[in-house]
Amino acid sequence: MNTRPKQTAHDQPLTPYSPPVDSGHANFVNGLSQGSSKNPSWLVEVESEALVFRRLEEDDYEKGYLDILMQLTSVGDISKETFSQQFDLIRRNPDYVVIVVENLAGRIVATATLLIERKFIHQCSSVGHIEDVVVDKAYRDRKIGSRYVRCLCVTSCL
Ligand SMILES: CC(C)(COP(=O)(O)OP(=O)(O)OC[C@H]1O[C@@H](n2cnc3c(N)ncnc32)[C@H](O)[C@@H]1OP(=O)(O)O)[C@@H](O)C(=O)NCCC(=O)NCCS
Repeated sequence: MNTRPKQTAHDQPLTPYSPPVDSGHANFVNGLSQGSSKNPSWLVEVESEALVFRRLEEDDYEKGYLDILMQLTSVGDISKETFSQQFDLIRRNPDYVVIVVENLAGRIVATATLLIERKFIHQCSSVGHIEDVVVDKAYRDRKIGSRYVRCLCVTSCL
């Protein structure tokens, strides 16, 4: 009898993503390869669809990042310039990690933010707070939200 517990989304390994040199999804891969050494990404197969978890990048403005946030709450009218200024502040703060999920069509389909709180108690420990979690309506109930928790934990250790 097989006594191994059923594999859940939590146990599934996160595969570090190295874009193949020759790919049928050249545009997607080219987009990812830009700055990939600074932006590690993980390829996750969700119901036969390849999705990439990675840090927010400035050109995600054009990939529908704000549209995803609008499924969570009001966002307002944000120009590319305003987005870039805010992005720059976030990027420079190592305790502020925004992870997005990109599909093969190059659209952002989910986002979540990890805020690391530095403490003095418990021997100068740190606590992570996960905020602004939203998965595109078309991608819900596929355990993407669950995978986020692992991805944010791994990313915070990099
Ligand atoms: C909440 C949300 C992120 C879940 O994403 P998802 O990828 O569909 O979730 P998963 O498929 O990974 O489900 C994870 C678990 O959370 C539960 N869950 C999903 N949506 C939930 C919700 N709105 N409230 C409570 N639990 C929820 C699921 O039942 C599942 O439980 P299980 O592991 O016991 O089966 C998604 O529904 C969403 O974007 N909602 C709109 C924005 C929002 O409300 N964000 C949260 C506040 S910041």
